[in-house]
Amino acid sequence: MAEYYKNKVIIVGCGPGQKAYISPKALYHIKRAGIIVGSRRLLKLFPGINAKKIILEKNYRTMIDKIGKWRSQDQVVVLVSGDPCFFSYTKMIVKVLGREACVIIPGISSMQLAFAAVGECWDDACFMSLHGRDTEYEQLVKKVRDYSKVGILTDSKNTPAVIAGQLIKNGIRERRMVVCENLSLPEERIYDIDILSAFHIRTKGIVVVIIMKKQ
Ligand SMILES: C[S@@+](CC[C@H](N)C(=O)[O-])C[C@H]1O[C@@H](n2cnc3c(N)ncnc32)[C@H](O)[C@@H]1O
Repeated sequence: MAEYYKNKVIIVGCGPGQKAYISPKALYHIKRAGIIVGSRRLLKLFPGINAKKIILEKNYRTMIDKIGKWRSQDQVVVLVSGDPCFFSYTKMIVKVLGREACVIIPGISSMQLAFAAVGECWDDACFMSLHGRDTEYEQLVKKVRDYSKVGILTDSKNTPAVIAGQLIKNGIRERRMVVCENLSLPEERIYDIDILSAFHIRTKGIVVVIIMKKQ
């Protein structure tokens, strides 16, 4: 174990899902790991790696206690999707184990890829996550009213149709909604539609939405 990384947990951003988006720095650490913790989907990206693979399911908090114990015996790498510092498990790991115990390797966020796909800059955008949260519709409406571009992480409950429904309910119809489904994966689909059409859309898989004021 290199001295700098000794006893540390390396949190590695794996990008949006396609292996070509994983940085050489991320791969360097993954190849040298003794233990790799990650979702089934992310672990599948590295079939040839010799490390002990630990599947992360809903056991987020108890897994951090285990990681805390393993880190003094072996090099632990935790895989997260996209960028570790954008709506991810990283926040909980750093909070529990402490900043000094963690090294973070950035990755390409699904949000970055979504903005690139649309050909829009994201430096003037506002972001929120509806992934695993369902009490934030007021925030959603406020952000869409206040900002010309809003990037939103969704989940199977808070789908683009549900988001469109909330906006319509609050009198917001004149917006462009770009629905980015399974970015970088073989099933990738991008729909550039208005709010009323988005209300009828059915998506499958992982989805990022960008809502923009019409020019
Ligand atoms: C827990 S959040 C993690 C976000 C991640 N840290 C990032 O930077 O992309 C998971 C959400 O990210 C979005 N996401 C991740 N990968 C995606 C992809 N390839 N295509 C579309 N959305 C994706 C979806 O909204 C998904 O529900």
